[in-house]
This record gives sequence, structure tokens and C-alpha cells, in this order.
Amino acid sequence: MVSTRNFVDYRNKLILAPMVRVGTLPFRLLSLRYGADIVYTEELIDWKLLKTTRKINEVLGTVDFVDESDGTIVFRTCAEERERVVLQIGTSCAERALQVGKLVEGDVAALDVNMGCPKEFSVKGGMGIALLNNAENAKNVLKTLVAGLSIPVTCKIRIFSDIEKTIALVKEFEEIGISAIAVHGRTRQERPRHKVHADMIQKVVENLNIPVIANGGSNEIKTHEDIFKFKSSSGASSVMIARAAQWNPSIFQDAPLLPLDDVIKELLKLSILFDNSPSNTKYCIQMMLRELQETPRGKKFLECQTLEEICEIWELGAYCREKQLEYQERGSIGRRNVIP
Ligand code: FNR
Repeated sequence: MVSTRNFVDYRNKLILAPMVRVGTLPFRLLSLRYGADIVYTEELIDWKLLKTTRKINEVLGTVDFVDESDGTIVFRTCAEERERVVLQIGTSCAERALQVGKLVEGDVAALDVNMGCPKEFSVKGGMGIALLNNAENAKNVLKTLVAGLSIPVTCKIRIFSDIEKTIALVKEFEEIGISAIAVHGRTRQERPRHKVHADMIQKVVENLNIPVIANGGSNEIKTHEDIFKFKSSSGASSVMIARAAQWNPSIFQDAPLLPLDDVIKELLKLSILFDNSPSNTKYCIQMMLRELQETPRGKKFLECQTLEEICEIWELGAYCREKQLEYQERGSIGRRNVIP
């Protein structure tokens, strides 16, 4: 069954980066509809996924990975993204990573291992950048996944300040058989405001045969064309975008940016359609509004307690009520409506 699937081609692609709390189903679908070729999920921690049960949601047309202890949907996906969604895991353990891979391999296009996150939570657990700093374990995780899964395996790294060390390690990763590598052109110590080292990404590109996905360019990506400036400055095969997409995912369109109100409306429609958690939808909109949260309308938005209230602001209240009623009547897994 798996052999009939198309394999992900990582060359010459525009990619939505993994982003915690942003890369949920509505945001991923919106990015795809605007022109992203591949979309990464938010980082999902291995043991959290391993607590879930896979369920088909007939009403929504989704596959849900549900933590039955509290009903949390840890990962929701659907057919529209199946050949283009890459699930990113946070892991420090080859066996757990493989179990996750086995759990999801029929529902996603590929599996990515986070080897770049510098946040305390990840590092304490040996994940993210801590995994990159533990080369033997990182290689073991990748080897185990490549050997055990039928879908492509990739990883996302940061660069070391020693570029030779970076190159030596990514060459070993390539030999293991990963299908592509995303390189965030900053070191562990560097923050998003720091300039990205496109020249260092280029050094990685020059030393590998697998596709390299350049990441870290959002400070200079204000228009769709800017994506290609970053691409050519890094020499990479593909580009992965986080913040510029978080601010306005219509950056993926080969056209001027759409007005935020139009984009928010589309996100709301998808959030209603896929019964997204209201607090997650609110968070994604906050990330788009940024300083506009200070306006009277922004303040009204911040006070919203339900998806319906949010939808009212963008004139989608009636659609929201209608769909929620329909889902209730059809017995879809109900969501807590009030934002905590
Ligand atoms: C991130 N980033 C990130 N990286 C990762 O590998 N897994 C993740 O879950 C997250 N989560 C996340 C959340 C948010 C809100 C942001 C802004 C960033 C890092 C991200 O994928 C990317 O590497 C950096 O943001 C640099 O790329 P840009 O923003 O310059 O395009």
C-alpha cells in the first residue's frame, strides 16, 4: 500500500517551517493553498504522540491522534495535505522516534527530526540542539528511522560556529540516507534578530548531494520575490519560511501580499471547518496582527472567549454557528468552546 505513494521531492520547493502552535492544520492548509509546496507540522514531542490513539473523524474528514486521557487532539491531518505534510518530532531516543514514525507513516509524507531548537524544554530532554550536540545519538536516531520507515526521513539543524564541524556532521547524516536537510543559518547562541549566515548554508550546499533547505531568512523576506533572493544567496535547493509566513502566509503566493483581513478570514473558515481549538486559532491570529492588537478592534479581538466571538469580528459569526451546530448534530468530537 505504501509503495504506491509518491515520494516527496525536496528540490526547488517553498516550505512552511515547523512552528510550535502555528503549524496546526488550518495554518498548514492555508499555506498550501497560497502556494507552499511542503508544510511542516509544529514540533510534536515523541512521548506525547505515543500516548495518542489514531482515530478517523468521519464528520470532519480528518485523521486525529487523540490523547484519550483528556481528549486533546495532538495531531490532526487530512487528505488534502497527505502527500505534502512533514511531521516534525522532538526526540532524544531512537526507539521512541521509530515508534512515532510507525504510528504516523501512513498519514504523512515524511518525518523530520528537530535538531535545532535551543529552548530549555528541548535541551533538558536531550532534544533539539542538544541532540545535534550529541552526534552519536543523533546518528543513531536517523539510522533507526531510515532503516525502519517507508517514508523519507529528514532533519532540521542549526549551524555550529565551526563550519568544518557542521560540514563533517551533515556529511555523516547524508551517508545514513536522509532525504534532505533543513539548515537554519544561525548558531545556537544567535537570536532571530541576528543576521542569517546564508554563506554558511552555501558551504553546506557545496558539500552535500541531497537537497538542502535554506532557513532563517525571514528578516529580509517582505515579499514573495525576496524568498528567491534568500534562496540564491544561499545556493540552496529549497527555502523554508517561518516568521514571514507566520506574519502573513500569503507570502507563498506569486503575487503581492494579501491584506491581513482577507488572510484572517480564510484562516477562520478553515478553523471552523476543521473544528480547530479556539485558543490555537486565536494565537495564530495574534501572531498575524502583532502591533494591530493595540487598535480598538485588536483589543476587542483579545477579549474574545470563543471562536464564534472571534468570527463575529470578521463577519463569519453566522457561518461559525451553522457549522458548529451541524457538527454537534452529526456527533463530531465536541471541543471546549471557551478559551481558557
Ligand atoms: C519556531 N521554530 C521552530 N523550529 C523547529 O525546528 N521546530 C519548531 O517547532 C519551531 N517552532 C517555532 C515557533 C515559532 C513561533 C517560531 C517563530 C519559530 C524556528 C523556525 O522553524 C525557524 O527555524 C526560525 O524561525 C528561522 O526562520 P525564519 O523565521 O527566519 O524564516
